[in-house]
Amino acid sequence: MLRLVFLGPPGVGKGTQAARLARELHLAHLSTGDLLRAAVAAKTPLGLEADGHMRAGRLVPDALVLGILKERLAAPDTRHGFVLDGYPRNLAQAAALAAITPLDAVLAFDLPREVLVPRLTGRRVCPTDQSVYHVEFHPPKTPGRCDADGAELVQRPDDRPEAVGTRLTVYAEQTAPLLAHYAAEGRLRTVDARGTPDEVAARVRAALPRA
Ligand code: AP5
Repeated sequence: MLRLVFLGPPGVGKGTQAARLARELHLAHLSTGDLLRAAVAAKTPLGLEADGHMRAGRLVPDALVLGILKERLAAPDTRHGFVLDGYPRNLAQAAALAAITPLDAVLAFDLPREVLVPRLTGRRVCPTDQSVYHVEFHPPKTPGRCDADGAELVQRPDDRPEAVGTRLTVYAEQTAPLLAHYAAEGRLRTVDARGTPDEVAARVRAALPRA
């Protein structure tokens, strides 16, 4: 059983590394951003409420996110553990999480802002299978088309420059204080997120707690 939180600013590569590690270790990849985007696409009441907050780059209200997280954590694929990607994002969410589950480690991904912004603005996603590409760092085989299903890739609304600035500010003001919180609990491990996805993945492995 391995229960991990991946923490870090938007575009740092948390989702890329969480998906990869979850696949390799048979853990559940729990991305609150993906869960919220699925709710937006399905136009559920939660999705309709979350949409405006997400487009603007603001956090979705805590109570809404906690509801979908609890539901997801109860699914059977979490039995070997999970990588939580995008939760918690403030101290209140960290307290709510502590009431639901213990954690084995919190990996904090670190990257200078000048490297973050191009990762975000160049990201493209497949609207059908949600796979993630980058126009420069991870381009699809056919420009603009998903490798798996050929769908036309799109830019996330919150990757437009207007929302990116807000997301970085929200991270600095509300999420970054979690670093000190988890460091004080002795759970924090910092991962240098520069370099290729393979290089970062090797650092992730080195940062995991020993079984
Ligand atoms: P969410 O989807 O969680 O977005 P985020 O935290 O801003 O993170 P990103 O998905 O932008 O980045 P990432 O670090 O996963 O990077 P990725 O691997 O894709 O949340 C979106 C919104 O939902 C929030 O703003 C909020 O509104 C709401 N929300 C979600 N959770 C919430 C919560 N708990 N409470 C309240 N609201 C919540 O990589 C980025 C790009 O870089 C990709 O194109 C990738 O291909 C490329 N890349 C990855 N690694 C590398 C590398 N090593 N080198 C070069 N390129 C790379």
